[in-house]
Amino acid sequence: MVMMPQRIQPALLLSTLAVDAAFASTSPILAVPSQAWASLNASVSGRLHIAAPAGLPCFTSYENAWGLEANVPNAEQCQKAEAGLTSSIDIIQAFGSYHNPTFSTCMARGERCTLSANGPKGIVNGTCFQGTVPDYYVDAREVQDIQRSLEFAQQYKLPITIKNTGHDYKGRSAGVDTFAIWTHNIAPELKIDEEFTPEGCPGPVGPVVTYGAGQIDTYLYDSLNGTGYLTVAGSCPTVGPSGGWIAGGGHSIFAPVYGLGVDNAIQMRVVLPNGTFVTANRCQNQDLFFALRGGGGGTFGVVTETTAALHKDQEITYVFLQMPVPEVPRTINEIFVANAEKWADEGWGGLYAVSGNVTNSTARFLGFNTKLSVEEARASLKPVTDYLESFTSSNETLISQFKTLSSQWAAQNDPVLLGFLLPEAGVSLTRSSRLVPRSNFHGEEAQKQLVDFLMSQNFRWSVVLGTPTKYILPESDRPGGPGEASVTPAWRDALWHFTIVQSWDPADPVATSPEALSRTFSTISTQIDPLRAITPDGGAYQNEADVYEPDPIGSFWGAQNYARLLKIKKQLDPDNLLSCWNCVGWNPEDERHGCYLKVRGIGP
Ligand SMILES: Cc1cc2nc3c(=O)[nH]c(=O)nc-3n(C[C@H](O)[C@H](O)[C@H](O)COP(=O)(O)OP(=O)(O)OC[C@H]3O[C@@H](n4cnc5c(N)ncnc54)[C@H](O)[C@@H]3O)c2cc1C
Ligand SMILES: *[C@@H]1O[C@H](CO)[C@@H](O)[C@H](O)[C@H]1NC(C)=O
Ligand SMILES: *[C@@H]1O[C@H](CO)[C@@H](O)[C@H](O)[C@H]1NC(C)=O
Ligand SMILES: *[C@@H]1O[C@H](CO)[C@@H](O)[C@H](O)[C@H]1NC(C)=O
Ligand SMILES: *[C@@H]1O[C@H](CO)[C@@H](O)[C@H](O)[C@H]1NC(C)=O
Ligand SMILES: *[C@@H]1O[C@H](CO)[C@@H](O)[C@H](O)[C@H]1NC(C)=O
Ligand SMILES: *[C@@H]1O[C@H](CO)[C@@H](O)[C@H](O)[C@H]1NC(C)=O
Ligand SMILES: *[C@@H]1O[C@H](CO)[C@@H](O)[C@H](O)[C@H]1NC(C)=O
Repeated sequence: MVMMPQRIQPALLLSTLAVDAAFASTSPILAVPSQAWASLNASVSGRLHIAAPAGLPCFTSYENAWGLEANVPNAEQCQKAEAGLTSSIDIIQAFGSYHNPTFSTCMARGERCTLSANGPKGIVNGTCFQGTVPDYYVDAREVQDIQRSLEFAQQYKLPITIKNTGHDYKGRSAGVDTFAIWTHNIAPELKIDEEFTPEGCPGPVGPVVTYGAGQIDTYLYDSLNGTGYLTVAGSCPTVGPSGGWIAGGGHSIFAPVYGLGVDNAIQMRVVLPNGTFVTANRCQNQDLFFALRGGGGGTFGVVTETTAALHKDQEITYVFLQMPVPEVPRTINEIFVANAEKWADEGWGGLYAVSGNVTNSTARFLGFNTKLSVEEARASLKPVTDYLESFTSSNETLISQFKTLSSQWAAQNDPVLLGFLLPEAGVSLTRSSRLVPRSNFHGEEAQKQLVDFLMSQNFRWSVVLGTPTKYILPESDRPGGPGEASVTPAWRDALWHFTIVQSWDPADPVATSPEALSRTFSTISTQIDPLRAITPDGGAYQNEADVYEPDPIGSFWGAQNYARLLKIKKQLDPDNLLSCWNCVGWNPEDERHGCYLKVRGIGP
């Protein structure tokens, strides 16, 4: 059931409420005759809906593309919206909800419809703004729904947004005055095939799993549990493995050994911007296969399903070290930097994170290893456990856990791992990140430079050990091969995916003012400039990157991949109907980006 706002005649309102003149939109969405929407609706089995922000039931007025209107709040629905604020599973099930709510607001105008997890509850006497929540969406269930939607968008030149789970850290699943295709409900039962032959290929390639665009990580892990197979997918239970995750690259706790998401893709099916439904793999439509694997989501078409490689499931060595380190954690950082290459070569996946402040900080290492036994893991990590013993013999907050997990399912459901991810739901945060090359860990001088950088940061950063450090690209997937992926080559050489984070309450009027947000984005962006400077051969993971990344082409793709991607984009979508922030071929002046801020010279 879609909740439709109850409205009174706009004419009645104009006399009592001020209408934002700048909002007199020229959106092509508004130019479409209602009869045309009705016939689109009929062609998609009634799956066309008007979209509203999830917080709408809590407000007394509503400003959307059609203007400012009174809204009759609904206490019960408001309470329900509040209850689901920080629940990931609730967020992904509502079209108007976003995991990172600030990206559904109009940051540039300080206009929101967000609710606070901490602040006052209940009905707000105020205006809910549409922000960047698209105006219309089709709740696609079948390929035809997507085809009809794209054909309609072509006919009326409508800007399109593709939304899946709404997890995106750059707001790419939202867009001002856009027409959205929601892939969340494209979720048929997944299929395992032991001897899969990709379309147009000469023979079988081994065991695979095929899942829909709307499936989420946890569904994959639950479904594979007990089958004897492991697959590479994301760590957050609710991220979409067939959506933005794989489009951007896809890291995993198992990526060090089995490769990135893009390396594990066997075949993808996609509706092109002109409505044609095609199958891409290493044997056909290789340009598209290249673009869909690293080119970024929301750009080349609407993916309907992904077929990915399966590996033999196995026992996994698990380590969790929680280290309350005295004062400034220089020594522990020195140990992690000095050993990074050895640990990468031993196949460690997971993360290393430091939190706290200069007088009281905690370092955590969470490691998963498919290669080493527990005994070997103890030997491998001896440099850090020796250090711990030197200063914390009976420390309550010290945790040192070594054990064997029975399967991938146990690893992905580890409470410590989930403890890092689940608290992000419904919180607004922004990141800055860098893929740090192997050479930055070579020799005392380079190590010192890196440690100096770490020590210059607020103690709120983490290192994802999810780069394909031990994975050898097969011949077919190397540059020039039919299975080449379009992620930056920096992924292949990086030992660390270093990230910093800044978060705020999405309903805090001070923190979400345009001035404060500009400062926050600018601070987080400039904060890792020194790391950019010492990693000229590095890159950045586009899905977990600085919103205002100063060198998106060089960082996300590399000039050579970008040139090929741009050519593909221009061929498939010359009018840029599909587009998103910092995506291939984007135009920062595009009206759909009008709610972003201008930071470091980047923006509308
Ligand atoms: C808590 C949390 C944990 C995370 N953990 C990981 C992790 O372990 N590994 C990792 O690599 N990343 C991780 N990420 C980042 C994640 O990869 C990105 O947020 C990604 O964009 C999510 O994709 P989505 O489809 O779920 O989300 P959405 O926000 O719905 O979509 C993201 C982008 O993909 C596009 N898109 C979505 N579906 C399709 C489709 N079917 N066809 C074409 N385009 C599509 C959208 O238009 C948008 O541009 C995490 C993010 C969060 C918030
Ligand atoms: C589309 O049709 C369905 C079913 O008839 C209806 O519930 C829905 O409101 C319609 N959508 C719009 C935008 O009118
Ligand atoms: C809501 O706000 C308006 C103007 O800001 C005011 O006139 C009105 O009395 C308020 N209503 C309630 C119920 O507080
Ligand atoms: C996965 O399998 C394990 C046993 O190996 C079991 O304990 C767990 O409950 C299973 N999970 C699901 C969701 O079936
Ligand atoms: C560091 O954090 C502790 C609480 O964990 C706090 O008591 C202390 O004042 C903080 N120190 C600084 C310098 O911020
Ligand atoms: C240090 O920080 C931790 C976590 O925030 C806190 O539990 C602990 O009490 C702090 N210790 C001191 C001495 O401030
Ligand atoms: C634990 O270690 C921290 C950092 O060295 C120290 O501040 C704290 O007092 C220790 N706690 C105990 C119970 O020993
Ligand atoms: C759609 O685009 C693809 C790729 O450019 C092209 O091969 C196909 O012929 C087009 N289909 C139609 C119906 O125009």
